[in-house]
Amino acid sequence: MGAKLLGIGSYLPEKILTNKDLEKMVDTSDEWITTRTGIKERRVSSPSQASSDLGYQASLKAIENAGIVKESIEMIITATITPDMFFPSTACIIQEKLGLDNIPCFDLSSACAGFIYGLEIARSFIDSGKYSTILVIATDCMSKVTDYTDRSTCILLGDGSAAAVVGKSKDDIGILDSYLGASGKYARLLYMPAGGSRQPASIETVTQRLHYMKMEGSAVYKVAVTSMVDAVNVVLKKAGLSKDDISLFIPHQANLRIIQAIGKTLDVPMEKIFVNIEKYGNMSAASVGVAFDEAIRNEKIKNGDTICMVSFGSGFTWASNIIKL
Ligand code: UT7
Repeated sequence: MGAKLLGIGSYLPEKILTNKDLEKMVDTSDEWITTRTGIKERRVSSPSQASSDLGYQASLKAIENAGIVKESIEMIITATITPDMFFPSTACIIQEKLGLDNIPCFDLSSACAGFIYGLEIARSFIDSGKYSTILVIATDCMSKVTDYTDRSTCILLGDGSAAAVVGKSKDDIGILDSYLGASGKYARLLYMPAGGSRQPASIETVTQRLHYMKMEGSAVYKVAVTSMVDAVNVVLKKAGLSKDDISLFIPHQANLRIIQAIGKTLDVPMEKIFVNIEKYGNMSAASVGVAFDEAIRNEKIKNGDTICMVSFGSGFTWASNIIKL
């Protein structure tokens, strides 16, 4: 027995923040952002919207797409690094919004790799035979931890969410294999210094803008390329497949140049690599989920195709999987 995606959905907040808007906020230009990142615009949640609100909307779409009654969901896993609050978990908050009760719910903090981590955890629970239907949500409001005075990070990030209903597969379709990795030695290249138990919120931490994401961009860039190339090669080997068996690669959308470098290193043409970064920027855990959902809706992939998802983020964490539709 294996696991497959019974349904998928995504949700993006309405407000669009363009490169031109950012030109008025920091010392940058549409030309710099476009050539260095490939991003033209990103979505930003409203002041009243939190990650659970986005995740709830994506969940409704995934449940509808799966054609199940929501009561058949037995567990909710939410991948987020921008939870509504430290506790309770965003998964519990979404459970309540969905009108469900008395099922296990927990959050997963694997940054941009969170959706693939979540799918693999769901697959393992289903493989164990203990659960048969699990809702995996990836939702991040990166705008809420973005310093809009820091031009090196604020141009990159956006908000969004994706959700998938994962269920049993009795045939050869579904999640064929996954690979998860992490290396904590890189923790301080991409992190949010304050607001946790290390540096609790105080007047000083707020004044020093320590509740915003900090990143050593070029150092992250290099490890992102090598880690995602490695993650693709490892998962292909685990699954006994070659890159030519893959109809579409769906990489994390952090920087178009990173995506192109991965394609070049793997010798995969850009036509076989899904890109939507120009519209959304980097939505952390939600990026690959939203990309997967769009690839299906835009008929870039169809039943019978095999896709490879790969992602990389704070931790560092990285993850890849192979899904046969
Ligand atoms: O999701 C998790 C993974 N995240 C990533 O993978 C992100 C990885 N990193 C990146 O995508 C890139 O490193 C960035 C897009 C963040 C930066 O691009 P870069 O080509 O590595 O630029 P840089 O940091 O080396 O900076 C080059 C120059 C600097 O000026 P000087 O020192 O050469 O005078 C920066 O100050 O570009 C300047 N710069 C900007 N200029 C205009 C940095 N940000 C901006 C900006 N507008 N927004």
